[in-house]
Formats: sequence, C-alpha cells, structure tokens
Amino acid sequence: MVHMKKEIVDEIEGIVGRERYSTDTADLYVYGFDASIHHKTPDIVVRPTTTAQVSDIVKLANKTLTPIVPRGAGTAMCGHTVPLKGGIILDLTAMNKIKELRIEDLYCVVEPGVVYDALNSELGKRGFWFPTTPGSAEACTIGGMVATNASGMRAIKYGATRDYVLGLEVVLPTGEVIHTGTRTLKNSSGYQLDRLMVGSEGTLGVITEVTLRFAVKPRASAMTLAAFNSLVDAGQCVSNIIAKPLLPSAIELMDSVTIQAVNKCMNVGLPDCEAICMIEVDGHPAAVEEEMKVVEEIARKSGAFSTEASSDKKRISEWTQARKAILPSLSRYGEKYVSVALADDMSVPISRIPEAVEAFQKIAEANGVIVGTYGHSADGNLHTKMLVEPYSEESWKAGERAVGQIYDKVLELGGTVTGEHGVSITKAPYMQKERRDSLGAMRAIKRALDPNDIMNPGKIFDWEGSIISHLRYPAFTEGGCSCSQTCDQG
Ligand code: MLT
Ligand code: ZN
Repeated sequence: MVHMKKEIVDEIEGIVGRERYSTDTADLYVYGFDASIHHKTPDIVVRPTTTAQVSDIVKLANKTLTPIVPRGAGTAMCGHTVPLKGGIILDLTAMNKIKELRIEDLYCVVEPGVVYDALNSELGKRGFWFPTTPGSAEACTIGGMVATNASGMRAIKYGATRDYVLGLEVVLPTGEVIHTGTRTLKNSSGYQLDRLMVGSEGTLGVITEVTLRFAVKPRASAMTLAAFNSLVDAGQCVSNIIAKPLLPSAIELMDSVTIQAVNKCMNVGLPDCEAICMIEVDGHPAAVEEEMKVVEEIARKSGAFSTEASSDKKRISEWTQARKAILPSLSRYGEKYVSVALADDMSVPISRIPEAVEAFQKIAEANGVIVGTYGHSADGNLHTKMLVEPYSEESWKAGERAVGQIYDKVLELGGTVTGEHGVSITKAPYMQKERRDSLGAMRAIKRALDPNDIMNPGKIFDWEGSIISHLRYPAFTEGGCSCSQTCDQG
C-alpha cells in the first residue's frame, strides 16, 4: 500500500525517472530491514545515480517534511537503515564508481556505493589496501563505513575508517552540497567537518563522495591459533602480547559458545576448549617470522595449551572463514534460538578484557541467557551476541536485562558501548548513559543542520524507551509487539 502523497511520488519520478524508484509492497518490505533486530516499512525506495539527484530528492524531502534514510548494503547491525518514521529510503548502491585512484598521492575518490572488497581488489593490484577489514567486507559499502566509522579485525594496527577519510562530499538536509576536508594527507584548515560526518549515521546529511587515503600492503603475514582452557587467560594473553611490546595486526578471540557453534556448522575442527585466540602478525617476511615466535611463546606463558602457527594462505583462510562464520553459526547453536545483535560491540581498554569477559559470562548465567563472546580483542573490541527465543517475550526481556548489566560493566571498566557498529536504535539508551554530558551538544548540531528533522529521525540521542521495539520478528505477544513507539506490528 502506498502511503506517500501522489504529488511527492510524481516529483521523485521527475527527478530520477520511473525505473529508479519503487513503491511495490515487496520492495518496501525488504528495504525495511538491515542486519539488526528491527524492521519498519518505508513509503518509497529511491535509487539515485548522481549527487544532483540526491540533492533534489533531499530538497523535496525537506520541503515536504518527509523523513529520509540513506543506505548502502544494509549490513548495519543496530537499525541504522530502518526507516523508523517511514518516508524515503535512499539506496546509494548504484553510485558505485571508483572515480580516481591517485597511487602517487596515496588517495582515491569513490562514490558511496563502492563495496569494500571491490575497492581493495583495485588497490591490491598496485600493492596497496584500505586495511580496516570489516566482517561484512564482501558486501558493505564505503559510504556506510564512513557513516558508522566502521572497522574490524585489524584496527589495532591500522585504525578505523575515520583514520582514512581525507574529505567528503555531503548533501546537507537542506539539499545544499558541501565539500569537507581535502585531497592532501594533512589539513588544519578550519573545522574538521569530515570528522563530524564520520559516524553521523545518516542523521546530518547524505555522503555522496569519499576521498580516502590508503596504506601499503604488508609483504607477508602469519597466524597462530592458540587454544586455552580459560577465557580469562585468553583475554590476558592479548594484553601480554601488546605489553611485550609487540603490535599484532589482529587478535580474534572466540569463547566456547562460539567455538561450539562454528564446529557444529563448519568442518574446520577448531579445538574444543574454553577459548581460542587467532593471532596475526604482518610486515616484512623476516619480521613476521621472528614476531610469530615471540607471540607463540607469550601465548604459551599466558596459559595456551596448544598453538599452531601457519603462513599457509589456505590454512589461514580456513581459520578466518571459521571466525567469519560465527554470526550465522550462532543461530544454529540450539534449535529454538536465534542469535541477535544485543550488547553487540562494546570496546574496553585492552587490559580490562579478562574482567570484561568474565563479567559477561556471569551476567549471562544470572539472567538465564546464552551469550557468545568473541571479537577483535587486540583493540579491546568485543562482540556479545545473545541467543534468544524470538517468539518469547520473557526471553527478550531477559536479554534486555543482561544488555543493561553488560553495558554498566563496560562503562565501569572505562569502555564504550560501541566500538565499530554504531548506535542507531539498539545502543541508543546505553550510549545516552555513556555520553550524558555531550548529548546536548550533539542535539544542537543536529538541530542546526537539520531543523526539520528529516534525516534518519528518531535515532541515537532522539530514541526513547526500550530497544525491544520495532522487532523484525512477528508479534511475540497476543495483540502485537510491545513497542513503546508506533511500529508496523501494531
Ligand atoms: C564481525 O566482527 O564479524 C562483525 O563486526 C559482525 C559481528 O559479528 O558482529
Ligand atoms: Zn566486528
């Protein structure tokens, strides 16, 4: 059913043409999802191909007070691209050109819909890479990565997306097109507006072009799989390596729940134990060899009962695939459960990992929920996926209780509620607690740039109430979803 006024649809058709928008029920339904627990159907999906079209659509949205939500591949895990208040979904995946590759200047200029892996395959041919390595590398788009300050397993050594953004083209909520930053590697030229836009989650404008620096690809890498009988020992191993001092390119931690889930779904035969660390070092071949020896020695001293080092690409790829399989595998851990992104991607100071993982296990037990803990432990970024019974209100409530306690612990340890996925809906109440004294400043910026509140409204600092809301799962209570805000489910 089309809720949008015919005049607005007609104007959109005038801007992008009949082929580049849809109000079909099936299209609207699927564009109501991202990778989060939430869902809400938009009124129209528009697929622009140029900045000028984006600007005209945003001007129209601003004039008609129509909510507008930009999106890339929809891999966001907290509801970023779920159009809470309906309106326009702006699908930017057709803007997917690499416009410039300036190898000698160490930067490239890309449209927002360029996929991370596609960019790296071009850079890789010339010996360079954009090394942030998000879990959704095969699908996620550069625009989405900028909008969430995404990162992944190699942030300890190579940083997050914000460390690579030199400049942006942004369509502001008024439709005005601005250019932030520069094409130079250094810039102290006024407010760093590109930094403000990074992580703004589609609330301050639409990113239509990104100027990114890149890095030289390391010549060699090696990985060891260290197995532990104690999750706390595995956590301690991480800071023991860093404090050596030694800078690994990644340390992926997996607890017993995630190991069991992956072993059930994939034929990789991970050691059946309390925890494993996949530790990667990269650089010059001789340095890699030497550092790997040191890493294995530290792992053993930290309590690893086995280590298996390899520089064989096939072996490393098996381990990496096993690590990447955690997310889907967790949903097959037990018949009645699905794995959901709750308390999803906190970060703590590296030395606090042992306390954090121990506390998460205790909180899970106390609330009767199953939690799989894993993540990019080298930089203190952990994932705690919860297994809930999707049609049981009690199960969701237990999950939500555990989330609150987990985040309280994270803040007590000096951490943040989100290291790489962002806030949107699912983290909103906890981020509001974490950032209590800067919410006013954030709101003031939002109101100044978007006075009509059209850009991705109702999220981050403007979300109120429970996160168990606007769920993608059919109603779990008689009479519909128990949302505190209006949603599709009544
Ligand atoms: C990852 O680490 O693979 C991604 O952040 C997604 C996740 O598992 O939460
Ligand atoms: Zn991750």
